Amino acid sequence: MNKKTFVANWKMQLTFHQAIDFVKENIDQFSILAKQSDREIILCPSYTELYPISLLTSDTHLQIGAQNVSPYSHGAYTGQVNASSLAEIGCTYCIIGHSESRAFLHETNEDVAQKCAQLFAQGIIPIICLDEAIIESQFVELFELFTQSDPEQEYIIAYEPISAIGTGNIPSIEHLNKIFKKLNTLCKNHPNPFRLLYGGSVHPDNASQLLTIEHIDGLLIGGASLNIDTFVAIVQNA
Ligand code: PGA
Repeated sequence: MNKKTFVANWKMQLTFHQAIDFVKENIDQFSILAKQSDREIILCPSYTELYPISLLTSDTHLQIGAQNVSPYSHGAYTGQVNASSLAEIGCTYCIIGHSESRAFLHETNEDVAQKCAQLFAQGIIPIICLDEAIIESQFVELFELFTQSDPEQEYIIAYEPISAIGTGNIPSIEHLNKIFKKLNTLCKNHPNPFRLLYGGSVHPDNASQLLTIEHIDGLLIGGASLNIDTFVAIVQNA
């Protein structure tokens, strides 16, 4: 069975209480979605909500992911959160290299590879975001890391063209076919299990079509994951 992955990236759109209430109010719907054996649902709230949401969802099949992590294991890095803390509070996934972190936090390809190494060390599955402009260069550092890692360590690549994030415009199916074929060929050269996701303006109207594209194993959803009806519609229609 081809399992589909759905990542809800809530960015910094909700306050602490709003995020907790969102989960509490919709826990039944979230857990029904996550219980389906052909779907994996990963909720990615802000750092402050990770632990309470991890507790709230502990007896469901929902997975919890962070939106970033420090490239260092521990030490004098004011304002950073390490991968071991994420593992301790029940995060099984972590987004890294999001175009917003690259733009606003000046995250580089080298940082992304270091963050990936920190996550691997804790057995957390990285959701590595890429946009077209950096596909080739980013893979150099990442693949070097993969050759030194446990070949069983899973990773996820999320292709998120900047022009599609929050704009309502998705690339053409033809373009996506080409990109995902290329990504699949690059990743296949390494033994580590991987999944390929598409992200950027995913909506109930385009989700099922996106998931018919060969090698797309799931979706990274921003805005549409903040409304339970659109989120459920995306997961159910897919
Ligand atoms: P969007 O965001 O679905 O709101 O376009 C996706 C993302 O940035 O992860």
